[in-house]
Amino acid sequence: MTDKILVTCECAPNIALIKYWGKLNEELIIPLNGSISITLDRDVLSSKTSLILLKTNNRNIQITLNNKTQVFNEGDLSKNSNDIINKKRFFTMLNKVRQNCILSDPFEYEIKIKSSNNFPTACGLASSASGFAALAHCLSKAYGYKGDVSELARLGSGSACRSCFGGFVKWTTGENSFDSLASRLFPSNHWEEMNIIALILEDGKKSVSSTHGMKESVQTSDLLKERVKIVENERLLNMENFVREKNFDEFARLVVQDSNTFHAVCLDTYPPLFYMNDKSKEIVKFVHEYNNLDSSLKLAYSFDAGPNCFLFVLDQHLNELLFLLRNIYFRNFDLKDKVVSNNLSKKENFINGLSYESIDSERRVDLENLVKKFESDEKQSTIKYFIHSKVGSEPLIYETNDLENSLFDSEY
Ligand code: DP6
Repeated sequence: MTDKILVTCECAPNIALIKYWGKLNEELIIPLNGSISITLDRDVLSSKTSLILLKTNNRNIQITLNNKTQVFNEGDLSKNSNDIINKKRFFTMLNKVRQNCILSDPFEYEIKIKSSNNFPTACGLASSASGFAALAHCLSKAYGYKGDVSELARLGSGSACRSCFGGFVKWTTGENSFDSLASRLFPSNHWEEMNIIALILEDGKKSVSSTHGMKESVQTSDLLKERVKIVENERLLNMENFVREKNFDEFARLVVQDSNTFHAVCLDTYPPLFYMNDKSKEIVKFVHEYNNLDSSLKLAYSFDAGPNCFLFVLDQHLNELLFLLRNIYFRNFDLKDKVVSNNLSKKENFINGLSYESIDSERRVDLENLVKKFESDEKQSTIKYFIHSKVGSEPLIYETNDLENSLFDSEY
């Protein structure tokens, strides 16, 4: 019998290269098709979660998320507009752990959870994948869960199962809860030249949640059925091979294609789901124009269930990309204090190193022509800010009862 178990974990969000959209089983969150993602760098974006199990007579569950606290009773599935967690999904995870763990008395503890993100929730990036992955790792370690941690995270939010690992990650469909799991395909150092740049175009809450949107697509879109087949029959295997071979040209084509097919499915949903907006489409045009300069692709884009854009670019073309972003979209950007003119002073940390080195004169002519095609005063407000990340490593799991690195203070 243990009186106190404290665990802490940090996980990063992931960006799907081949998207998950549609469930085979709503309760168990089993997807219609497999997916592949890149985990981002924890130093840039991460969710940190601490969980403490206490031997008391209290059976409440207390959850604090970004300084907002909610307390509820064991088994309380009531829905409230101010809920900070989906209680149904939380209890599914918790019960799964308690039914298959090494603790002899798993129901005898009071549970306190604290979680916070190192990025503002208003920055337009979803934290549910990193948040549920960190919670799954904490539950797994605290209770000594005997099953697969990615299964637990999946029960919180589908895409969260991929954030349980670093590097390039695959989530396979499966037919039952225990075989719909994520696993690492390649470690973070497999393709060190890879960069991910998130362009934040809108930072408000998205209109239709992924959970709801994909349910509507499953019910109404015929195109979704075709997408599922093509993903399962070709795209997953192709993507795995392109990443293995580090073939950027083919990788980029497939990332773009899969993102576009996903948004075509959204449009085919009845009523249609519009996640990309005019700014998103403008970035799409920019990427294709840039790629048209040469015979091979240098830049890829991907959009999730929202207007913000994720760009993929190798080190050797990052400098050119920064030159273009700076001259088309951040003309008024002050490099000295890293503050964009339109009142984004608090976000300077999210505009990482928007500086570039000189570009040779012949190439510069091509790039400047491209700038001329796109630049305008209007463009200066297209991108609110951007986040740069390399491929991230595995989640960070601290030693049990490490109070110093936890989110709890000395009262425990
Ligand atoms: C467009 O994982 O947020 O980001 O399983 O219902 O919680 P639930 O949905 P969620 O959906 C993510 C959808 C996506 C594509 C992806 O990440 O693969």
